[in-house]
Amino acid sequence: MALLPIVRLGDPVLRTGAQPVPDDELSSRKVQRLIDDMVDTMRAADGVGLAAPQVGVSWQLFVYEAVVEGAPELTIPLTVVVNPMVEPEGHETVDDWEGCLSIPDLRGLVPRYPAVRLRALGRDGRPFDRVVEGFEARIVQHEFDHLNGVVFLDRMRDLHSLAFYEEWERYLREEDAGPTAAKAE
Ligand code: NI
Repeated sequence: MALLPIVRLGDPVLRTGAQPVPDDELSSRKVQRLIDDMVDTMRAADGVGLAAPQVGVSWQLFVYEAVVEGAPELTIPLTVVVNPMVEPEGHETVDDWEGCLSIPDLRGLVPRYPAVRLRALGRDGRPFDRVVEGFEARIVQHEFDHLNGVVFLDRMRDLHSLAFYEEWERYLREEDAGPTAAKAE
């Protein structure tokens, strides 16, 4: 197990469009190890998603997984996404709280589509095509943005909801906010 350093806002790699992972490199030891290390790094950081640019690698690759204590119905199995295309299903967006491992300690309200179509390759190079919804759709849009040099701050309609985690918990977290609201990716 190897933990990779997570780069923070200000590192130019977070503002750079990522390149597709070449077909003939996906099965290489180097890329497969990177995927394993990204999974370890995401779990160690208690995150629900991590994109390659966040570990300084400008490739179109991200991982996500959600294990929410006390809410098994919100579990999202580990998913590896390579060279994705993401398209919204429908036009309406919904606001919910987001945080980012590259912008530590901040939370803000971000509009996202409640469902998106995700087309990509898995780590074995096999294509998949599925519609994801809810919290999973939010994670996928957040990670896909990372591949295009976009962070959640750019997506906020206004910055009034932006808060440090501790103050967010104290003043802003609604009674009915689910456990996913506290997660970062
Ligand atoms: Ni992020």
